[in-house]
Amino acid sequence: MAVLVTGGLGFIGSHAVVELLQEGLDVVIVDDLSNSSKEVLSRIAKITGIKPFFYPFNVCKLNKLKEVFEKHIISEIIHFAGFKAVGESSSKPLEYYDNNLNSTLALLKMMEKYQVKKMIFSSSATVYGERDDLPFNEGMTITHATNPYGETKIMNEIILRDVAISRPDYAITVLRYANPIGAHSSGLIGEKPSDIPNNLLPYIQRVASKKLNELAVFGDDYPTTDGTGVRDYIHVTDLAKGHVLALKKMVARTGFHVYNLGTGRGTSVLELVAAFERENHVKIPYRIAARRSGDIATSYLDVTLAKNELGFQTKLTINDAVRDAYRFEIRGSKLDKTKLLKKESIKK
Ligand code: WQD
Repeated sequence: MAVLVTGGLGFIGSHAVVELLQEGLDVVIVDDLSNSSKEVLSRIAKITGIKPFFYPFNVCKLNKLKEVFEKHIISEIIHFAGFKAVGESSSKPLEYYDNNLNSTLALLKMMEKYQVKKMIFSSSATVYGERDDLPFNEGMTITHATNPYGETKIMNEIILRDVAISRPDYAITVLRYANPIGAHSSGLIGEKPSDIPNNLLPYIQRVASKKLNELAVFGDDYPTTDGTGVRDYIHVTDLAKGHVLALKKMVARTGFHVYNLGTGRGTSVLELVAAFERENHVKIPYRIAARRSGDIATSYLDVTLAKNELGFQTKLTINDAVRDAYRFEIRGSKLDKTKLLKKESIKK
């Protein structure tokens, strides 16, 4: 019996795989490497001592998925795989709807064919859109997100809800994430966008390591304590552990369940910058820039339900996250260079 983890080499997926393996579970990863690297697999093995099964293809490919379901007895699916760049989703909506919806549909078809009855789906706080009633809770009516990426999350949630209603023997859990940050404490896995980062902490990391000159703070005139945007930043390891709890809870139940996973607290852009500087003893040069289109002022989650029903509680702080992120920035890239040197000496 194994847990199928789609997108298992990505930022959140790789941390979840580590936690699952450390719980003694067998893991099968499907990841098309579109925003990850095969190197992550070796790093997972280095951390856990276990190399999970890995299949490099896009989850939408039904024939290849079938082979995986034929080969392994899958007991649960955790579906992380998906395109996730908010800005890009507005310029390439078709790609986003195609990939992010068809991957879920393909998995649901496999569930029916191979009698797999349990799935956890990666959703996002972005489904709450722009609203004044904070913190966001699971009971709020979901209408529209501010971009196609967010819309794919909402649509996926609707599809999964309807399938769960039609199949009372299924257990489907939707986890709505706050903003995941940080990296594994080993410094071996973390967030490594292949392009210029869109998200705040990866950008700060690159400024800290002098790969980028300065941070642009998108707006200082929001109705927040210091005028900069406020988010609920959760350490990726805490978020990954939330998946293990959700998985354990699903074993003995059916139905459709939705949980927020966050800290329940907001941190501003300038507070995150200050924490990074203080904890890592580096200066982050920044300038105030215009607001980024589509951004909201404040987002943080009510996590009472996850606490009460899953026993979810974050243990790591923003300070842990900025230290771990910087350790990964330094250690991760050092390892990359060592690998390059090795490759070069092999060529010689
Ligand atoms: C955080 C804050 C920015 C970059 C998005 C998605 C969400 C999730 C994570 C997927 C905001 C400010 C940022 C920069 C800045 N999805 N900022 N300068 O926008 O809250 O969430 O990413 O993977 O679904 O919506 O996260 O990290 O981009 O921004 O000032 O260079 O940092 O304005 O206030 P966001 P973020």
